[in-house]
Amino acid sequence: MTEAGASVDALVRAATRQLAAAGVPDPSREAWRLWADLQGELPGASLLTRDRAASTGEAERFQRAVARRVAGEPLAYVTGIAGFRRLTLKCDRRALIPRPETEGLVELVLQRQPGGVVVDVGTGSGCIALALADEGRYGAVVAVDRSPAALGLARENRDATGARVHLVLGDLCGGLAPASVHAVVSNPPYLTEAELAALEPGVRDHEPALALASGPDGLAATRRLVQEAGRVLRPGGWLALEVDMLRAPAVAALAGTAGLMDVTVHEDLFGRARYVLARRSEAE
Ligand SMILES: C[S@@+](CC[C@H](N)C(=O)[O-])C[C@H]1O[C@@H](n2cnc3c(N)ncnc32)[C@H](O)[C@@H]1O
Repeated sequence: MTEAGASVDALVRAATRQLAAAGVPDPSREAWRLWADLQGELPGASLLTRDRAASTGEAERFQRAVARRVAGEPLAYVTGIAGFRRLTLKCDRRALIPRPETEGLVELVLQRQPGGVVVDVGTGSGCIALALADEGRYGAVVAVDRSPAALGLARENRDATGARVHLVLGDLCGGLAPASVHAVVSNPPYLTEAELAALEPGVRDHEPALALASGPDGLAATRRLVQEAGRVLRPGGWLALEVDMLRAPAVAALAGTAGLMDVTVHEDLFGRARYVLARRSEAE
């Protein structure tokens, strides 16, 4: 407990000690980040006003947030926001927290298919679809998810960003007409139940299981998605998937078996095989 009228600096130092005791890495940076995000400002701006007295409301709100973080909840759920490419998105337990690796998937798609009709399958927070709509010049961006809760969050993000994205509650590409899209983009769930159980508690106990696990080999959604992409892609259209690095060869093989061509595996910024790209033949 911090006494009334404490400075921002004193609050953040107290939080740093609590976070350090809970084993949170880089506790000082995290405490400043928490404070700044709750204030809606950059950490650098918060540092400049560190000597001012925090109001009682600010202090209580901050201490509640620190307690959630100490209890193991991910930072983005505590602050309620996550940065993704040029966007700041609302973030909560209804959907996966957007990851930096997924920004790389968006980049690969923008380089190859910056226009036409694109579908983001398993949109979660809406991050991929909204970033594509923001940075590309698409005629239409469709975002599908099986989870009504996730789609509710994607809707809030779409409305807040003003992006033109059509949201669909559905199962993978089931609602799409044959040969109707220029690109199918997806970061599908790709872990096994056993891998989900072994994840660090911050992810396992807070992020939705439907967003993470998919069948006994982790490939149930991906297997179906690759097949369905062959049906809904226009000739020459792209399939772009984020994958678990251990499964990249298996996913590339699935794409080949489904009759897709130009199958390539791409690395993320950390040199891990995290993306599989493939095309539907122009000739069909
Ligand atoms: C790994 S999360 C990705 C979320 C978001 N695209 C991102 O990259 O942060 C997978 C998403 O796929 C959705 N999903 C799982 N199975 C699905 C299915 N059969 N059809 C549509 N969406 C599905 C989940 O609800 C979840 O939102």
